[in-house]
Amino acid sequence: MSNNNKTDPIVQKNRELTAILEVSRVLTTSFALEKNLLLVMSTLGSLLEMQRGCVFLHDPLSGEMRIVAAHGLAKHNIEKGKYRIGEGIVGRVLEKKKPMVIPNIGEEPLFLNKTGSRPAKDGISFLCVPIMLKNEGLGVLSVDRIYSEEQGNVEDDLRVLTIVASLIAQFIKLWESYEKIEKEKESLKRELKGKYSIENIIGLSDRMQEVFESIHRVAPSKATVLLRGESGTGKELVAKAVHYMSPRSKGPFIKFNCASIPEGLLESELFGHEKGAFTGAIAARKGKFELADKGTIFLDEIGDLPLTLQPKILRVLQEREFERIGSEKTMKVDVRIIAATSRNLETLVSQGKFREDLYFRLNVIPLFLPPLSEREEDIPVLIDFFLVKFNEENNRSVCLDKGALQVFLNYNWPGNVRELENTIERLVIMSGSERVKASELPVNLSIRRAKVSMKSESLTANVEDIEKENIIGALEKTGWIQAKAARLLGITPRQIGYKIKKYGIEEKVL
Ligand SMILES: Nc1ncnc2c1ncn2[C@@H]1O[C@H](COP(=O)(O)OP(=O)(O)O)[C@@H](O)[C@H]1O
Ligand SMILES: [Mg+2]
Repeated sequence: MSNNNKTDPIVQKNRELTAILEVSRVLTTSFALEKNLLLVMSTLGSLLEMQRGCVFLHDPLSGEMRIVAAHGLAKHNIEKGKYRIGEGIVGRVLEKKKPMVIPNIGEEPLFLNKTGSRPAKDGISFLCVPIMLKNEGLGVLSVDRIYSEEQGNVEDDLRVLTIVASLIAQFIKLWESYEKIEKEKESLKRELKGKYSIENIIGLSDRMQEVFESIHRVAPSKATVLLRGESGTGKELVAKAVHYMSPRSKGPFIKFNCASIPEGLLESELFGHEKGAFTGAIAARKGKFELADKGTIFLDEIGDLPLTLQPKILRVLQEREFERIGSEKTMKVDVRIIAATSRNLETLVSQGKFREDLYFRLNVIPLFLPPLSEREEDIPVLIDFFLVKFNEENNRSVCLDKGALQVFLNYNWPGNVRELENTIERLVIMSGSERVKASELPVNLSIRRAKVSMKSESLTANVEDIEKENIIGALEKTGWIQAKAARLLGITPRQIGYKIKKYGIEEKVL
């Protein structure tokens, strides 16, 4: 295009429309602020023949205007381009909220040329429009173009720039709310970090948080997991969580309780059998390991696995292979093994009831589920969880008053979460009132507590009985000579004298 010829107005209009369209397209592609504004400026540069362009945004905190995007400006110039409101033309435009045009910056004293990008000031016109939304000035859009009397019309340029500025304003507002939401999401995520949660498993205590963290860590792998913990602490629940959070979640989850089946049937249950393998094997049958192919097998109560079967389980753990009973054919399975036990496996190993090699194979990743008594802070949350569940199921709205809650907190829950869950279920179904008081709680909650203390009392009573019997026995053997009896018992004469008095032992005169 020649500078001497006035551009055809229709061509000019077309170009403007294209530029505006392109700007709005750029601004709606993403929420990348600087990148988008930069694209806007280069679009204006190429489509409207503007030499330089800047988007200044006002930072309400510092009160400064900062160049967020520039076209045709070197980086060091961009960094210099900070203006206060009212300072220079850019500042003034924001302050007055009105566009300004300087047809020839060489003749304008207000032009500070802070960026130092225009060594030869003459022959350049400077257009500056505020970026406004409603009545708020967000920043300024400025553009330089070669000054020529023939070229374009300042009014047209201003109109285009005002439209672009309003597109930018809307984009900035959207971007701000997007950023705010992103920041909130981030901070929520940060809050949740360290606060692991797993669906259906309640646990705010540090002990359970550690368990959750481990679950998150082990789930993606294929590693064998050994779940330890008293009955009712949630071992099965955790086994399922590990499976459903693992890449094999679409595969089967097969549960097998090693303690629930007579020893004679275990092998066939686990590994399957061929037709006629034994009396009663009228058809071939798949075992649990085969059924668990591509999934997870949960071997509950692994400590109860009879010694005879332990080598076969060891082989599956090591080679993932086995044979059905009555078959020579070796089966291969792709299965993850999760085992659980409430028994002390180490003791079983030392007693020779559990193979050491199997123990080590299983114990790759042990996960300990703490008893409820070691995570009291989980009790109220669990109560709430089960109240909601059973109230919903039974169409009731039962809750506990403070006193009742205290009873729950004091009780030592030998059956752990399972017992707590059952207690709440019974309460929701049976309770006459909606707000349960301590006095309305099932007697066993307090009786059992009493029993626990009675148990220890009777234990000491027992010890004393035994001691008394021993002393009488020794006295009788030694003809009631205290010193001799003491020696026999391995205590001092002083001690035996004290105990004789304590138990009120008297020589029986026949
Ligand atoms: N942390 C927990 N949050 C919610 N429910 C739990 C939790 N732990 C256990 N339960 C519930 O208690 C009962 C017993 O859990 P389970 O996994 O069978 O224990 P375990 O296998 O250790 O005996 C189940 O109904 C289970 O859903
Ligand atoms: Mg169980």
